[in-house]
Amino acid sequence: MHDPLPDPTRGVSAEAECKAPQNDGTTVQWTVLLNPAGLAFDAPPGVPLLQAAEQAGIDMPSSCRNGTCRTCLCRLLAGAVTHLVDWPGLSAEEKADGFILPCVALAQSDLTILQPHARALFDH
Ligand code: FES
Repeated sequence: MHDPLPDPTRGVSAEAECKAPQNDGTTVQWTVLLNPAGLAFDAPPGVPLLQAAEQAGIDMPSSCRNGTCRTCLCRLLAGAVTHLVDWPGLSAEEKADGFILPCVALAQSDLTILQPHARALFDH
């Protein structure tokens, strides 16, 4: 899918660490750090951040899961994402300020996200 407007969140990517493709053919996964809890999970390519977090046993606020209700709204502190929908429920100003909707956001690098309501579902 194409975002017809420049994605201002890409400006955050200057500090992103790029990972080279794996020589053994395995899928490259990005590491996502959730602040302030310090929780981390792997985000495989093509898997929305919310889904990847849930697969790792991390709960984050969500409702519609299609980029419209904004319940999952959080802020990207470092890294780069793309959104699965052309017009996620974000204003241009919010995008420019680094806000993302993890239910429809895909990691394009390692990420650091500010989501004060993230919590581990299980003791590790
Ligand atoms: S859960 Fe509704 S916008 Fe993400």
